[in-house]
Amino acid sequence: MLDTQTIQIQKTTASRLSSVDFANLDFGAVFSDHMLVIDYANGEWQTPTIVPFADFKVSPANPALHYGQAIFEGMKAYKNEQGDISVFRPVANLDRLNLSAERLCMPSLPEELFMQGLTELLRLDADWIPSAAGSALYIRPFMFATGEFLGVRPATEYRFAIITCPVNAYYSAPLRVKVEETYVRSVEGGFGFAKAAGNYAGSLLPAKKAFEAGYHQLLWTDGKTHEYFEESGTMNLMFIINNTLLTPALSTSILAGITRDSILQLAKDQGITVEERKISVAEVMQAIQQGTLQEAFGCGTAAVISQIVTIGYQGQDYDLPAVETRKFSPKLGQALDDIRTGKAADTHGWMVQI
Ligand code: COI
Repeated sequence: MLDTQTIQIQKTTASRLSSVDFANLDFGAVFSDHMLVIDYANGEWQTPTIVPFADFKVSPANPALHYGQAIFEGMKAYKNEQGDISVFRPVANLDRLNLSAERLCMPSLPEELFMQGLTELLRLDADWIPSAAGSALYIRPFMFATGEFLGVRPATEYRFAIITCPVNAYYSAPLRVKVEETYVRSVEGGFGFAKAAGNYAGSLLPAKKAFEAGYHQLLWTDGKTHEYFEESGTMNLMFIINNTLLTPALSTSILAGITRDSILQLAKDQGITVEERKISVAEVMQAIQQGTLQEAFGCGTAAVISQIVTIGYQGQDYDLPAVETRKFSPKLGQALDDIRTGKAADTHGWMVQI
């Protein structure tokens, strides 16, 4: 374990905290006072630093800008009424960051370095963690190539950083989504399982086109046949059909969501039958027509659960059961929330106290 003395801390002399309107926070637009920065050079991680949130200086020949060696994570910290701080499944996020790093030929980050840097950062910016119901401090760890070199090869220098943003309960209006059959988010053998910046860049144009066609998001299908569902926008996708929770099985083209994993576990705890397998578009369209599809929703760290109310498929819109009739996803969302707020026992050991 690194000794805390090894983190160099430079505190801000001009906190922005008092200028923040905590009742009106745009997701990802307000940043807390400090950030953690750890550089990688000469084959090893250098001394971690916590410094005031500020721009980075990068070379115009920074390889991440040209060839996209850039990955990130998303997780949340909570503060209860007593002021105790906890983070939801941070090590699961680190494990996924390291999987993403491996796929993009980037260095892996040791757990003790990550946890110690995160802990110190959250303690320093503890006043930025909102405690109102549904609010949290969104934590964005990320890593990108640094240096100055235009040859196409894995970079030799990297920067890992964590920035944080206070966020309110994320209200997502019920979604109208379109089954995407032209563009793909990822393919088997690609890096859709990694939380890589490039996956999001490639999704912007199809999402924009879906938006222009009257949909909030799209439902990604597999890259080979477009017959099977993969994800929903930037979230994992779940259906309730005949009282069974169905979600596409993980593959190299699907992100292993931590909210996805947590919801599947809670569903099992509640005695709900869970199936992780290939889910065809045809199966879901048939279930809609037969009235056996009860719920459809996306799940992720930012919004937790986003209800899907309409699916557009081959030029026709199919309306799903009204949100008010849904029993499974609200109960699962509540169970997750109860663990996060300490109202329910954390039987899976997901909350890490800071
Ligand atoms: C999430 O909800 O977990 C996401 O990844 C969305 C994020 C890119 C804002």
